Amino acid sequence: MQKLVIKGKRELIGKISISGSKNATLPILAASILAKQVILKNIPLVKDIFTMVDLLDFIGLKTKILKKKNIIEIRNNENSINTLAPYRLVKTMRAGVLVLGSLLTKYGKAKVSLPGGCAIGTRPVDLHLFALKKLGAKIKIKNGYIIAEAKKGLKGNTIKFSTISVGATENALLAASKAKGTTILKNCAIEPEIKDLIIFLKKLGLVINIKGRTITVRQSEIKNSKIVHSVIFDRIELGTYMIASALQAKKNVTIDKIDPKLIKSEIDILKKIGVQIIKKRSSIIVAKNKKLKRINIKTKPFPGFPTDLQAQLMVMLTQAKGISKIKENIFENRFMHVPELKRMGANIEIKNKTAIIKGPTSLTGAEVMATDLRASVSLVLAGLIAENKTTINRIYHLDRGYEFLESKLKKCKAEIKRI
Ligand code: UD1
Repeated sequence: MQKLVIKGKRELIGKISISGSKNATLPILAASILAKQVILKNIPLVKDIFTMVDLLDFIGLKTKILKKKNIIEIRNNENSINTLAPYRLVKTMRAGVLVLGSLLTKYGKAKVSLPGGCAIGTRPVDLHLFALKKLGAKIKIKNGYIIAEAKKGLKGNTIKFSTISVGATENALLAASKAKGTTILKNCAIEPEIKDLIIFLKKLGLVINIKGRTITVRQSEIKNSKIVHSVIFDRIELGTYMIASALQAKKNVTIDKIDPKLIKSEIDILKKIGVQIIKKRSSIIVAKNKKLKRINIKTKPFPGFPTDLQAQLMVMLTQAKGISKIKENIFENRFMHVPELKRMGANIEIKNKTAIIKGPTSLTGAEVMATDLRASVSLVLAGLIAENKTTINRIYHLDRGYEFLESKLKKCKAEIKRI
């Protein structure tokens, strides 16, 4: 099994280019089932994307990944379409469940493996199914599979989500794309990745409006022409490297291929902590920081502070003076990095949903275990500032979502290698 070995206390300097967003690419790949031909640009070459592409192949689409160009070409020739998403392809990547909306609305049926729980929480799909039922789908659960049917097609409706869910909003949007009449989705997630999916769906010919957390989808004809779309940048990858750079910053790190407007709340929070950030049109510079200050923060749906940056921010707060608190509001079990960070010398206590971090503490290298995607990268950040060597085990989690992690960091003078 591969490990990452990091020699800490090396100053980062240079430039990091941000890849395309994994969480935007996944639902757009699921939406490609609705299209005839798609050219998707700026896709990140990470494991979750390959798994989704395998799922599209299994369903019967023709896919081709042009690795050197970060492009995926997809064709749906409508031959031998399989409306099944098997367990082996959904179990490692929950976003597989997003093909449910597209398959059901287009082919009137779908059988998709229940994704099951995952390390960060139970992560049910009840809201996805609630929305599909409201659109007229008949759904049963059998042998670990969601079996959905809409023989006469789906029908538009007004759907109000009780909880804001990224995945349920996406699945409902996909299902509404071919529903008769108008669908009004209320209390939706409005993450930039969902807006990117909407841009893609509009290119497909759909008429969609967003006002606050309400999204309206009007019945429209899906085009048969080739759709070309370039995926937005990965704001979580950007946030991760902003924190990595800020933790070191005696020198400047430039992070480009981004839009600073989409990470305004993250930039504001880092500035409050004492990080100097200079915004440009499509890049930012993380400059020499002042003394880091404590902060209290809660994770929230966009435009709030993202749960996907909670673990990384926690590493930063181990270096801030005073007592900081992070309340995790989205997932019930997303503090698995805490015991590992404590083994490196962090002073963190968990009370219910809140992590209490006392700083500053100097971290020392240790052998640690990655537990999920974002927890894993927080250990990389900790390793970069720790004394001596840190060895991170089970890094396959990192490979699910960070493109060229080692080479991007190495280019900025980090000492990191995979063994
Ligand atoms: C997506 C992101 C993930 C991010 C999360 C929250 C992708 C591929 N993944 O995950 O990186 O951490 O948003 O920003 O985009 N819930 C229910 N019932 C449901 C669905 C969700 O109770 O049917 C709950 C979840 O357990 C969680 C909350 O709603 O507590 C938010 O989850 P959701 O927004 O759905 O996350 P994902 O779409 O799975």
